[in-house]
Order: sequence, then structure tokens, then C-alpha cells
Amino acid sequence: MRILLFTGKGGVGKSTVAAGTAALAAAAGHRTLVLSTDAAHSLADAFGAAVGPEPTEVAEHLYVQQVDAQLRFEQSWAEIQGYLLSVLDVAGVDPVAAEELTVIPGAEEVLALLELRLQAQSGRWDVIVVDCAPTAETLRLLALPEALGWYMQRVLPIERRVVRTLKPVLSRAAGVPMPEDTVFDAVARLHRELEEVRALLSGPEASVRLVLTPEAVVLAEARRSYTTLSLYGYRVDGVVANRVFPADGADDWRAGWVLAQDEVLQEVTQSFAGLPVWTSLYRPAEPVGVDALRGLAEELYDGHDPLALPEGPGPFRIGRTRSGAVLRLALPLVDRSEVDLARNGDELVVTVGSYRRLLTLPAGLARHRVTAAGLEDGELRVRFEESAS
Ligand SMILES: Nc1ncnc2c1ncn2[C@@H]1O[C@H](COP(=O)(O)OP(=O)(O)O)[C@@H](O)[C@H]1O
Ligand SMILES: [Mg+2]
Repeated sequence: MRILLFTGKGGVGKSTVAAGTAALAAAAGHRTLVLSTDAAHSLADAFGAAVGPEPTEVAEHLYVQQVDAQLRFEQSWAEIQGYLLSVLDVAGVDPVAAEELTVIPGAEEVLALLELRLQAQSGRWDVIVVDCAPTAETLRLLALPEALGWYMQRVLPIERRVVRTLKPVLSRAAGVPMPEDTVFDAVARLHRELEEVRALLSGPEASVRLVLTPEAVVLAEARRSYTTLSLYGYRVDGVVANRVFPADGADDWRAGWVLAQDEVLQEVTQSFAGLPVWTSLYRPAEPVGVDALRGLAEELYDGHDPLALPEGPGPFRIGRTRSGAVLRLALPLVDRSEVDLARNGDELVVTVGSYRRLLTLPAGLARHRVTAAGLEDGELRVRFEESAS
């Protein structure tokens, strides 16, 4: 099963391109689902059809779904939130403020991705296309289970036992309600489910496409997304430059835009060297409906198979050497000075600007020493050697 994600700044055409790609896949006979996790429900607008929270058929082999993030939120987070609210209540926090404190920004969007897991497991689809929220923030939040892995494996079970034993005493003494076992269950379940979503999205059958319009600010954001997505192990396999002005027969005003866009497009090609850059012209009207969307995608991919698996290695790999191993993590478009590396037990902490990833090292490397690290050809390389002792 192929999974394609589309992300990019607001309004650049993510929903349009995601919907078009899905329509193209369905026309080729693949059982295709296009699902939006964005609260702005633009897939229905793009298809010009009513779309519900369950997969809705809009053409042969083509289904559309707009995930009900609120519902997902209630199913996955309500129990945990309930406990947090009871603690804040005891602490004297105003209930309205407490409610806000227990909502993680971007969490709804992440929980909406849990739907992707269910659909992927259903066996109903050959292709799932995801119309993501504006930035790569969501995918970054998905790194949370990885970052919490250590805590979940080692601390949570102990905490749970401690709480169970001390609960009667503690509740009375501190006045703070102790979490019920079901709260621990809810945390553990959510953790497992998010981990599964992350595994799906960073797996060999998934890839991310960056959608942009040829404008300097939009390009700047796409470049940052490319870096962060790679940092978190998601594979970017193409760039879509949308709303490109056609050059022919232009008046002065449009000729000016054509020139300006050309300049940015050259930078796009340089920035994403090695990745295909597909372009789509600015249409005289909004591409709405299955036929218009498919038409746009046909022109966009121009004969290239939109479902082709990316070639070459993924963003993260570990290769054995004679005396140890080399870990490679793609970090395109960053300067050496922006990258920081630290070792923390069996974790490698990679920081790029304000983003940080905690990489749990495979058991085989936990006792190895880091002997060299560097940034080369857009790739972080860390060399491990067996400890002498
Ligand atoms: N190539 C194009 N030509 C003309 N209009 C387009 C094109 N691509 C997208 N649009 C229009 O631009 C608007 C924003 O597109 P949309 O796909 O909703 O963006 P996003 O999902 O990134 O916010 C929509 O009205 C859409 O119909
Ligand atoms: Mg959209």
C-alpha cells in the first residue's frame, strides 16, 4: 500500500494537488482514499461534493474522507485530559484556563492521523493520499512517541506500580487525585498508536511531497520543511510548484510575474537538487471536481508515475563497518553551525535550530563510542567504534 503526504504553506494548493493525485491513482484502477486531517475542510470544496467523516465515494475507486478531529480527540485524549483537569482543579486553576492548558497545540491534527492508521490496517486501499495541515509541525509532533519512548518503557510501568501501592496514602496526604489505572492504559494506548502512525509514515512505502508556489517566502518555508522532515526520518520524494504563470501572450503585469517566478523557480531547482520538481500552471479558474483535478494532476506529473516508489536510500540508515558502524541522517539545506549533536546513553540527540530529535540507538550500538561526526553532502554522518574496554 502506497502512502503519499502533501504538505506546504497555507493556500499553495495542497488540497488541490492531493485530490488530483488521488483522482489520477483511482483512474489507473487503484483503490484510493484521500483523507484530510486539516480542520479547514477544503477537500469537499475541491471535489465539489459533500464529504463526511467516513470514506465517501466520489468516483470509481476514489473515496474522500474528512477526519472528525474533535471525535478522535474525545476518543483518545478525553480520559487523560479528565485526569489532568482533576489535578488542576485541586491546584485551584480556573476550569476554563485548565481546559486550555490540557489541549496541546496541534494535537487534534496529530490525533486525526490516528484515522490513517485505521484506514491503512483496513486492507481496503492500495493508495492513501493525505492532505496535511499547513506546516510540518504535525509530523514533528509525531516524533513525540519516539521522544517519550524511554519514559514509556522504563518510567511509566514503575510509576504505575508506585501509584497503585501508594494511592490510598498519597491521595489523602497530598489532596491531589492519583491517576486511575485506566489513565495509564489510555496513555500507553495513545503512545502505541502514535508510534504505529509514525512507523507507517516513515516506512518504505510512504513519502512526502512539498507543495509550493514560486514565491520567495513560500520557498523559504518549504526549504525549512525539507530539513525538518528529513530530521524526523520522513522521506521527501518530490516538489510541486503550483500556480506557475504561463509565459505566452503576457501583458506587462503578467510578464513581470513570469520573470519573478522564473527566478524563484531556479532557486527551487537548486534547493531541491536530486528531487523531481513538478510544475502546474495557474489555471484561469479554480480546479474543482474530479475531472478538473485529474486533469491538473495529469499535466503536473507529465507521464511520470505519481505512485512510483522513491529511489535511493531513505533519510535514515545505519551501515556496519569493520570496527563499528556509520549512522547517516539526511539533513539537507542546513549549515554545520545550525546542527548540534549529543550522546545521552543509548540515545543520540540531534538538534537543528529549534528542532530536536531523540534517536534511540539500536541495541548493537549502545556500547559503541562516537569517534567522528560531520555534515557532508546534506547528510549527518556519525561514526561509531567499539569501545576498547
Ligand atoms: N493551479 C491552480 N490554478 C488555479 N487555481 C488553483 C490552482 N491550484 C489551486 N488553486 C486554487 O487555489 C485555492 C487554494 O488551493 P487549496 O488546494 O485549497 O490550497 P491549500 O490546501 O494548500 O490551502 C483554491 O481555491 C484552489 O482551487
Ligand atoms: Mg487545504
